[in-house]
Amino acid sequence: MQNDQASRTALLIAASLITLHHDQKHSGLVSKTSAEFCGRVLDSYSAETRLLSKIARQSWFRAIARMIERITIPGILLHYALRKKCIAKLARSALANGSTQVVVIGAGFDPLSSELRREFPTALFWEIDHPATQRHKVRACSEIGIERLHFVATDLSGAALDREALIKSSFDPTQRTFWIAEGLLMYLTGETVSLLMRTLASLSAPGSQFAFTFMEKQADRRIRFDSQTKLVDWWLSKRGEPFVWGSTRDELVDLVRPWQIIRFFDHDDLRIERADEPIAKGEVICLAEI
Ligand SMILES: C[S@@+](CC[C@H](N)C(=O)[O-])C[C@H]1O[C@@H](n2cnc3c(N)ncnc32)[C@H](O)[C@@H]1O
Repeated sequence: MQNDQASRTALLIAASLITLHHDQKHSGLVSKTSAEFCGRVLDSYSAETRLLSKIARQSWFRAIARMIERITIPGILLHYALRKKCIAKLARSALANGSTQVVVIGAGFDPLSSELRREFPTALFWEIDHPATQRHKVRACSEIGIERLHFVATDLSGAALDREALIKSSFDPTQRTFWIAEGLLMYLTGETVSLLMRTLASLSAPGSQFAFTFMEKQADRRIRFDSQTKLVDWWLSKRGEPFVWGSTRDELVDLVRPWQIIRFFDHDDLRIERADEPIAKGEVICLAEI
């Protein structure tokens, strides 16, 4: 991560959600409020992202987006949308079944906590992110007038998750929590991921759940999407966001302890809804419980 700029991948995901919402074929995957939220974030970030937000809404841009996908990671936009849909469904189910707190780690410009806040008026929400990315989210949320959402800025590669800051901002470890780390752990080292698992466990009441995504190590041990081209490797490392950690499902069982893995959602589970379209393969969702 670069220290002065928001995560480029988080900005790219926000632009992808706008593109999908304005595409007739995929508009059902991204709600209007989510697309509007992403638009506000991009509009307020920089002149460059304001322009991106504008062109992402145009019908002629879809052909360009498809071409960009072909030379980077075919099916990545659909992967983002279906990954988000799956995690949102797990969060809604946890909230409907007794969780009262949701903490999104590495939240980027994800509109999920703002959406859930409306649907679950008594639940409390936190977002933990790198300070360089979070300050732009805080600004966008205050412009939109989003309340009942607490922000904790932490660079997880330099420091452990700030337990005290979380508790000081009304987080209650005796309440059941739904934790989310979507598209984050691949940027941290294995040791940091393992420490994070233990820290979250120590803050979690029984029945709490953790939905996170991880890059599944390829047969040659490389950490990347199956279809990822060299252009993406170069771009991620130029932007200071290379993938550094990945795992096999077997290795994960030990690494996540004391969390117990409930199930994995992979490319085949996500594509059930869209069997006729290519979806990027390589990032898996894991649901764990304590
Ligand atoms: C690919 S984006 C994912 C954003 C969001 N979770 C989503 O799926 O739309 C990666 C996120 O991880 C955060 N991140 C990366 N490295 C981090 C670090 N060392 N500490 C805290 N957050 C980090 C970035 O700021 C960014 O918000």
